[in-house]
Amino acid sequence: MSTFGGVPTALIVHAHPEPRSFSTAQMTTAARTLNGAGYHVDVLDLYAEGWAPVLRREQFTSTEDRFKPQAEQVRAVREGTLDREVEAHLQRLLAADLLVLSFPMWWFSMPAVLKGWVDRVFVMGGVFGGEHGFFEDAALTGRRAMLLFTTGGSAEAFESGGAFGPMDDFLFHIHRGMLEFVGYEVLDPVVTHKPVRMTDEERRVALERVERAIADVAGAATAPTRP
Ligand SMILES: Cc1cc2nc3c(=O)[nH]c(=O)nc-3n(C[C@H](O)[C@H](O)[C@H](O)COP(=O)(O)O)c2cc1C
Repeated sequence: MSTFGGVPTALIVHAHPEPRSFSTAQMTTAARTLNGAGYHVDVLDLYAEGWAPVLRREQFTSTEDRFKPQAEQVRAVREGTLDREVEAHLQRLLAADLLVLSFPMWWFSMPAVLKGWVDRVFVMGGVFGGEHGFFEDAALTGRRAMLLFTTGGSAEAFESGGAFGPMDDFLFHIHRGMLEFVGYEVLDPVVTHKPVRMTDEERRVALERVERAIADVAGAATAPTRP
């Protein structure tokens, strides 16, 4: 199953600008737990590495008048001319059995830096489309993915009839539109609500909950063997 020296690999893509945030504490807890469970853990900290999230035509070699981003992605994969950073991140993505997206909920979604990572690294021709299909026929079939995030709103606000409405509604575009689209089996998200209102003791308990949830993911039967 694995691609890294016989052990399963987890890629954690983290998007928070503050190293002392609760999101970052969740990420380090997840990394430590996965590592302790025998995973090779690769952490990609998008703010720390100054990831440029905006997909631009200058990132492609095309000289066509009309820029068609997905056609250029397919061509770049075929011709080996993908942007160097994108290629490096794509290889880290392809090497991972488990993908964890770690972030604070911003505007009922993910921070722009992370959305831009998906825009640029979920390359057509590399993880779906081109020689690959979509959903079960996409390139990442057989791998697992999950969201690890925080919110400002309470758990009740994200229930049916709550102020915001069901959490699943907000996650659909990520779960179905990004992760399942490229083939992942999507696991239950791990969410901490309102960490900014927590006492130190409540934070400690919340991080223990994160640790247990990630340990369950690490211990669970692995996804079907990759094609
Ligand atoms: C730009 C921005 C947008 C936000 N949008 C939401 C939102 O849509 N829903 C929500 O519950 N909280 C929202 N929040 C609050 C954050 O989710 C919250 O402060 C964060 O999850 C706390 O975790 P942290 O300490 O790791 O930052 C937003 C915060 C920012 C800065």
